[in-house]
Amino acid sequence: MRRGLPVALAVALVSAGCSGEPTAPPPVTMPASALREVSTVHIGTAVAGGGHHADQGYPDPFATDEAYVEVLATQFSSLTAENQMKWEWIHPGPEEYDFAAADAVVDFAEANDQVVRGHTLAWHSQNPPWLQGLSDEELREALREHIYTVVGRYQGRIQQWDVFNEVFDDTGHLRTNTNPWLRALGEEVIGDAFRWAHEADPDALLFLNDYNVESSPAKLQAYLDLVARLQDDGVPIHGMGLQGHLSLRYPFPADLQASLQQFADLGLQTALTELDVRIPLEGDEPTATQLQEQAEYYQRAVAACLAVAGCDSITLWGVTDRYSWVPFFFPEEGAATVLDEDLTPKPALVAVHEALGAGGASG
Ligand code: XIL
Repeated sequence: MRRGLPVALAVALVSAGCSGEPTAPPPVTMPASALREVSTVHIGTAVAGGGHHADQGYPDPFATDEAYVEVLATQFSSLTAENQMKWEWIHPGPEEYDFAAADAVVDFAEANDQVVRGHTLAWHSQNPPWLQGLSDEELREALREHIYTVVGRYQGRIQQWDVFNEVFDDTGHLRTNTNPWLRALGEEVIGDAFRWAHEADPDALLFLNDYNVESSPAKLQAYLDLVARLQDDGVPIHGMGLQGHLSLRYPFPADLQASLQQFADLGLQTALTELDVRIPLEGDEPTATQLQEQAEYYQRAVAACLAVAGCDSITLWGVTDRYSWVPFFFPEEGAATVLDEDLTPKPALVAVHEALGAGGASG
């Protein structure tokens, strides 16, 4: 008869990580204070709804998931509608607007003393099919009418609008192939959109917004040049948002702070607008080492913003893996947010809390 290891020795080996199995990540406790309580800048998250959520088996998270909604209310001082203000959702037909979901986000934010980032007025993605049939002049008129209607509806209630989202590709070329307004009307329509938004809500801060700006020199330069041209033309542009969709597949973007600073040097406010950190999983659970590395990426991203005067807003692109967009758009990656699917905190949540609490030179 074979004998196993004495129980005490087996336990000691497993807890020391000598069993050959990966060690389970150590438990993390929720910090005693909320993110919004320790932060000197607006700390926000995307509010799940629309987009990929509409294809999942679960009901609208914002309307039905009370534990999730409680996290939104208690932890954050800023909210972004993840999809509910995008064209396909809010303006599905030429004469048809659907404001219910966006109204709910704005009302909730006000009830909880939160600001709102409006996202987004012009993008190449998530547009309704009816735009495809329009002439150049009709496209221009549709954008003007859309901006007056949507921005006007929420006048005085939106802190920052992402007016144009993702206008350049990673090589710094204007997205004239995929963005209907840039294809029809060229760069000039960007300035028009900012002017229309400013007329509709003179108090809203108007932003450009994009990903990979900090890791693509060509894209960064394209944005710096565009901002300078818009400023020369007297266009009311107030800010540059860096989305911050990061992945452990790539090194942390060491130029993040310097990139934010370059926009600050042009007189713009800046923001991290869609921060998440994907973990390569290939079907497995994240390891303790990966979770620690993820926490460091979050900490460094927050610290980069806090180190730049005028970087006053940090938004996480989702707070829980329960609703993250990542597994649907990056099939081999996941676990990108600061709470797991059970709303249990990860090291990343503690890292964001500590980094925010460490404060910084926000201006
Ligand atoms: C994503 C949403 O998270 C998904 O729910 C949706 O299906 C697709 O869009 N850059 C942006 C965001 O500016 O609007 C995108 O959001 C993620 C990339």
